[in-house]
Amino acid sequence: MTDPIPTDIVIDCDPGIDDAIALLLAIACSDRVRLSSITTTHGNVGLALTARNACKVRSLAGRPDVPVHAGCPRPLTAPLHDAAHIHGDNGLGGVDLPDGEGGLAAVHGVDALIAEAERGRTLIAVGPLTNVAVALIKCPDLAARWPRLVIMGGGVAAGNVTPAAEFNIFTDPEAARTVLTTTEWPENARPVLFPLDATHQALLGPDWIADLSASGGPICRAVAGMLGGYETPSTVERGGKCVHDAMAVAWTIRPDLFETRPARIDVVTDSGTARGRTIADFASGEPTADVATDVDAPAFIGWLKEKLIALDALRGGDS
Ligand code: BDR
Ligand code: CA
Repeated sequence: MTDPIPTDIVIDCDPGIDDAIALLLAIACSDRVRLSSITTTHGNVGLALTARNACKVRSLAGRPDVPVHAGCPRPLTAPLHDAAHIHGDNGLGGVDLPDGEGGLAAVHGVDALIAEAERGRTLIAVGPLTNVAVALIKCPDLAARWPRLVIMGGGVAAGNVTPAAEFNIFTDPEAARTVLTTTEWPENARPVLFPLDATHQALLGPDWIADLSASGGPICRAVAGMLGGYETPSTVERGGKCVHDAMAVAWTIRPDLFETRPARIDVVTDSGTARGRTIADFASGEPTADVATDVDAPAFIGWLKEKLIALDALRGGDS
């Protein structure tokens, strides 16, 4: 049997510790996904830092050739909200990575996303959905031509910023609503949504992190360092760290690790306590997304470690 042709992908992100791990995972799996560009948004930290961090991570992974396009510096209408208290002031848990070669691409992130969609690339969106919403507003017929959109966002049972809302949706609910209530996707290619209900199922515990650090080279040690500085309330309660964004990348390579169910999605944009809530109607006959509901957690975290160690080996191992 011949190997499958790699899927071309673009990652829209706000690095961010789990965003950084998502980028590394994609680069580690370049036999299966070809990362053609990275676009960044405001989110975990401000846009200048998310763009700079994306450049640092591509260099760490030995891919300074992947263009990084900075996108929108603020939500559509909501006030700026970040998560530096979770990802550290530098967005990478205090780990100081070198900037590496190459700067930012001149093209704006939204225009890069539109160009990537037109070239038939899968979009993995793991930050607030501002860039994606603006792309859809700028080009209303774009959704019908977007081969696939995979999103980390939302919490059906509960949020992580408020009891109702998850960070990526809470930070720009108007953008999330624009994207998640769109119905013009190509047939059989509804967006795939990874909410907290799925991402909280796989935890990286202290042993996993120590083993990664001991088994790999500079990339694994940088990841272990970032995870050491990644403090979420759910981490403390559950005894492990959730790498939400890496799961969205994993789905494009290992869909066998996940179960999804079709649902019609809505997002609350009212100003009350439910602002940013993601509602998934699994009973709807007119679904708008496939929602990840179950994860083979041991297989996912084992595979993630294997891929990060393999990336280090590929980049020349211990240095
Ligand atoms: C999401 O919020 C961010 O802090 C993470 O990077 C992830 O995309 C999880 O709620
Ligand atoms: Ca993110």
